[in-house]
Amino acid sequence: MKSGCTALLVFLCAAHPLFAQWRSAPAVDSLSRSGPAGVTFRAGEAAMTVTVLADDLMRIRFTHGTGLPPDRSRAVVAAAWPTVQAVMNDAPDAFTITTSALTLRVAKNPLRLSFRDPAGAIISEDAPAKGMSWSGSEVRVWKTMPGDERYYGFGEKAGSFERGNLHMTMWNSDIPAYSAQTDPLYQTIPFFYGMRNGRAYGIFLDNTYRTSFDMGKEARDQYSFGAEDGVLDYYFFYGPAPRTILGRFTQLVGRMPLPPRWSLGYQQCRWSYTPDSRVREIASGFRSRRIPCDVIYLDIDYMDGYRIFTWHPKSFPDPEGLLRELKGMGFTTAVIVDPGIKVDTAYAAYRSGLAGGHFLRYPDGSLFTGKVWPGVCAFPDFTAPAARRWWGDQFAGLAAAGVRGWWNDMNEPSVFDVPGKTVDLGVLHDDEGLKTTHAKNHNIYGMEMTRATYEGARRLLPAERPFVLTRASYAGGWRYSAAWTGDNVSSWEHLSMALAMCLNLGISGQPFVGADIGGFIGHPSGELFARWLQLGVLTPLMRSHSVINEKNKEPWEYGSAFTDINRETINLRYRLLPYIYTVMSASSLSGLPAMRPMVFEHPGDARFTSTAGQFMFGDDMLAAPVLAEGETTKTVELPHGRWHDFWTGKAMNGGATYTVPAPIGHLPLFVPAGATIPMQQIVQHTGEAPINPLTLRTFPSHDGKAYISHYYEDDGSSFAYVDGVSFRRTFTARSVPGQVVLSLSGVEGSYVPPGRGVAVQFVDFGADPPSRVTLNGMRVAKAARGSGSIDGSGWEFDAPARTVIVRVPDSRGPMELALSR
Ligand code: GLC
Repeated sequence: MKSGCTALLVFLCAAHPLFAQWRSAPAVDSLSRSGPAGVTFRAGEAAMTVTVLADDLMRIRFTHGTGLPPDRSRAVVAAAWPTVQAVMNDAPDAFTITTSALTLRVAKNPLRLSFRDPAGAIISEDAPAKGMSWSGSEVRVWKTMPGDERYYGFGEKAGSFERGNLHMTMWNSDIPAYSAQTDPLYQTIPFFYGMRNGRAYGIFLDNTYRTSFDMGKEARDQYSFGAEDGVLDYYFFYGPAPRTILGRFTQLVGRMPLPPRWSLGYQQCRWSYTPDSRVREIASGFRSRRIPCDVIYLDIDYMDGYRIFTWHPKSFPDPEGLLRELKGMGFTTAVIVDPGIKVDTAYAAYRSGLAGGHFLRYPDGSLFTGKVWPGVCAFPDFTAPAARRWWGDQFAGLAAAGVRGWWNDMNEPSVFDVPGKTVDLGVLHDDEGLKTTHAKNHNIYGMEMTRATYEGARRLLPAERPFVLTRASYAGGWRYSAAWTGDNVSSWEHLSMALAMCLNLGISGQPFVGADIGGFIGHPSGELFARWLQLGVLTPLMRSHSVINEKNKEPWEYGSAFTDINRETINLRYRLLPYIYTVMSASSLSGLPAMRPMVFEHPGDARFTSTAGQFMFGDDMLAAPVLAEGETTKTVELPHGRWHDFWTGKAMNGGATYTVPAPIGHLPLFVPAGATIPMQQIVQHTGEAPINPLTLRTFPSHDGKAYISHYYEDDGSSFAYVDGVSFRRTFTARSVPGQVVLSLSGVEGSYVPPGRGVAVQFVDFGADPPSRVTLNGMRVAKAARGSGSIDGSGWEFDAPARTVIVRVPDSRGPMELALSR
C-alpha cells in the first residue's frame, strides 16, 4: 500500500511542471533531542530543527545538504526565552510536541508538519504532496489552504487589504508611481496572519534573501512560501487572538521606541524647498495662516551636488542661521540622507569612507559603484559595525547645525544604472564577519542604514529621542525608524491604498507609518487633498510631500475655503495629540499598532474580514474617513456594544450599519461608550505651550459597566521616561442610577507637568443640567457659561450639546468627579 502511494506521488510530481524540479522532505531517518525545547529530525539529505520558544510560539528550521549555517538574525532580538513545559511523544508514525497552547505533530513518513490547537483541531498543516521542499539553493514549504481562510499582513503591499489569491515577492525595490498591482515595493516584512472562524495564527519567515509568498495563486487549495537561498527558517505563532500574535512577534523582533512628541505633529515636505528663502517662506506661511506644523523637511537640493552631509554653498549659505530661525519659529528641521556617496576625491565623506574600508566591494576587491542623484557613487556597507559607526559619526555637522530629523531614502538600495536597479548581487558584504553576498543582504540594507543613523543620533545627541524616517526596511526595522510608503500618486485609489497599506504595515509590526499626504506624484484636487489630510489626522506619521516640478501642495494651495478646512483638520490633529501620544506610548510597550484593522480587533465578526475603509486608532477611537470622490456621507459598521458619535455625542447601538453625514471638512469618528479621549488646546507646534487645559472628552458608560481609558505623558523628548519620569493615570467612567462618575487614578510616575487645569466634558449627559457636581465629595460650583477659569473650579451646562463641562485644577492624587441628575 505504502509503495503504491509513493509511486502515485512520484507520478503526480513528475507530471506537475512546477513541482518536477522540487524535492520534498522524505521519511524521517532519525531524530535527536536538543535540550528541553528542541528536536532535530534527519530525513535523507534534509534536516529540520524544531525549537519551542513559548507555549504559543515554535521555530522551524529546515535545510538540506550542508546543515544549518550560523544562527544569526537581523530581525530577532529576544535571545533567551523562559523554559517551556513541552511534552514530547515519540510514536512510530509521528513525533508530537505539546504545550499548553499548541501541538506540533511531525509525521515521519514523509516528514510533514501539522499545528493543532489544544482540542486537537488543525490550525495549519503542510500540504501532503509537497510539504517542505528544495530545488537547487531554493527552499519552500507548501501548506494546505482552507477555502475560508483569510490572509493579512506581509508588511508593505499595494493593492487590497486582504492578501489571499496573490503571489507576493519580498525584494526591496524603488518603484515610483507604483500601482495596486506593483509588487514588490520598498520594504520586506515576511510576516503574515492566517485567520479563519475568528481564530488566527501567524508565520514569520526570517530569511533575508529574495522570498516569495504564493497565497493560493498557484493552486487554490494550497499556499506556499520560501526563499531563493538560505534556510527555511520560520516561526509559527498561535493566537488565537491576532493581538496575542503581534505581541509575541514584537517580543521576538523588538518594538518601536517611543518617538519624540514633535514627530507626531504635522510635517511638511516637498522635493525640494530651496533655496533657504523658500524654506523661510513656507515656515512663515504656516505661522501667518495659523496652520499648525512641527517639521519642515529639506529634500536633496539642500546639499552641494547631492553630496550627503554637505550644504549647498549658494542655496544654503548659512544653515546654522536658518535652522536657528526655524527653531525660533517652532519648527524642527529634518533632512534627507541617501546611502550613495559621490565618488569624488575632493569630498570628505568619500575620502574617509574609502580610507576606512566602509564601501561595498566585489569579491576581487574592486569598488562597487553605480549612479544615483549625485552621479557615480560608492555605497556604505551598513552590515559592518565599523561602517555603521563611521556613518553615524558623519552626522555630527548636521546635528551641530540643528538638524533633528533623519530621512533615510533610496536605501533599497536604488541604483539607476545597474541591471536590477540595485547593487550587483555578487558584491560582498561584511555581514558581521560572515562575508556574504548582496543577494543575502539586499533586503536588510535599508534597515541597517536606519540602524547606523539611529545609533549615530543616539551618540551625538544622547539626551534626545531620534526621529528617523525610512523608505526601505526589514522586519524589526521599527526599532530604529518610522516608515513611509514611498512614491505614491495623487489619486483616490491611492488614498484608499494608503489606508490599507498602513493597516497591514501596522499589524506586521511597524506602528509608525504614513503615506505622502496628497500623493507624491501628480496634483490632487482640493477635495482629494482635504480628505487625505483627514486620514492623516489618525495616521501616526502625518506628512505631506510632493515630487519636484509639480504645483505647490501646501495645505493653503487649494483656495481659501479649503485652507480653512485644512487648518481645522490639522487643528484636530493637535487637539488629539494627548490621545495620539498615549496610543503611541502603548504601541512602544505592547507592539500593537495605533492604526488597527477592524478584523484585527474583532476577528470573530464576519462583517470585518475585508473591511479597510474604517479602522480603530488605539482602543478608544474608530475612524471612518471619506475615501471616495464626491462622497458626503460615510457608511460605517459599528462593532457590537454601545458607541457614540465623537462629535455630537449621540449614542448608537453597535452591531449595526450607519450612514452618517460626512460633508467635506468632516472626519467621522466614533468612541465606545465609557471611553475618555484626552485632548488639548490648539497650538501652532508641540513646543508652543504646555497642555492647558487637559480636556477629557468622556462618553457615558453603558449598562453600569466601568470602562477604563489610559493616559500617558512625559517631557516628550528625552529618555527620562525610561527611568519612570512619566505621568500615567487611568480614567474610569461609571454610570450608576442617578449619577455619572469619572474617576482619575492617582498619577503613576514622577514627571510633573506644568500646572494646569482639567476640563472634563461629560458628553451626552442629557437634556437637563446636573443637580449637583462634586470633586472627591466636595461640591463644585456652577459657573456662568464660558466663565470657568483654568485655575479655578466650576461647571457649566451646554444644553444644545447635552454636555456638562467641569473645570478643576489638575492634581496628582485620585480625583473623582460625580454628576448627579
Ligand atoms: C525619492 C523619494 C522621494 C524624494 C525623492 C528626491 O523619490 O521617495 O520622497 O522626494 O527621492 O529625494
